[in-house]
Amino acid sequence: MSDLLHGVVAAVTGASSGIGEATARALAEQGATLALLARREDRLRALADELGGATSVHVVDLADPDAAARVVGEVVDHHGRLDVLVNNAGYGSLAPARGSEFADWRATTAINLDGLLAVTHAALEPLVAAATGPRGVADLVNVSSDAGRRVLPVGAVYAATKHAVGAFSESLRQELASAHVRVGVVEPGITRTELPDKGEGDTPDLSALGELGVLEAADIADAVVYMVTRPARTAVNEILVRPVEQD
Ligand SMILES: NC(=O)c1ccc[n+]([C@@H]2O[C@H](COP(=O)([O-])OP(=O)(O)OC[C@H]3O[C@@H](n4cnc5c(N)ncnc54)[C@H](OP(=O)(O)O)[C@@H]3O)[C@@H](O)[C@H]2O)c1
Repeated sequence: MSDLLHGVVAAVTGASSGIGEATARALAEQGATLALLARREDRLRALADELGGATSVHVVDLADPDAAARVVGEVVDHHGRLDVLVNNAGYGSLAPARGSEFADWRATTAINLDGLLAVTHAALEPLVAAATGPRGVADLVNVSSDAGRRVLPVGAVYAATKHAVGAFSESLRQELASAHVRVGVVEPGITRTELPDKGEGDTPDLSALGELGVLEAADIADAVVYMVTRPARTAVNEILVRPVEQD
């Protein structure tokens, strides 16, 4: 436990499992007050009970852009500010494009891209306002993927959404630099979470990655914490984290 993020309000989307849950826990360990966003209320409430303090729970389907915009307002109204936003909620399949359902493509863009855009749009002014406070900066962290850096012959739509997140983030970074809102992208390699179970069709064989195995969600949470605990003069714009044996 440290107080590096004491007084900081951090919202994490997709906080009900995997990387988002681990990130919320890690930010709370640095003293942040958390707003937890996702659809599964029971999971969010259990985490909020664990974290205690002023942690708030916001049950929302971020694939609905109106609901996504509304929930950011709810967070700011509840806590009075928003210093850190971690856009982590996501979904995606590594199935081949041939034979997949178009509905699955739409489900992927709806959360990975449209949901992230809707949340970010609503959060821009609160983040700019927070950056004028004593901390001197605010943070927007977008969780992309190593699939946002390279393209493989599987997961075409997933890779498309993550490449879009990279482009969106870099443009925003340049636009918001003078407002002292740091925009960073975290790009996980294969990480043990619920995600590989949710996509339609083929999922990666996590046991096939060599003796050291895949990343744990806490490894990615570490990267997020590193980004948002730098001194105000320092912006860590991008962190790519892969398992040692991932090619
Ligand atoms: N695991 C990996 O190998 C890996 C690699 C690279 C990048 N990533 C990225 O890491 C991020 C987190 O994924 P994860 O691996 O931690 O998977 P996960 O355990 O399946 O977590 C996904 C989270 O997103 C939330 N979510 C999904 N759809 C949502 C919606 N419509 N509205 C609100 N929340 C929604 C889920 O909550 P509810 O179901 O409760 O709504 C859950 O909390 C994603 O952006 C993913 O693309 C993961």
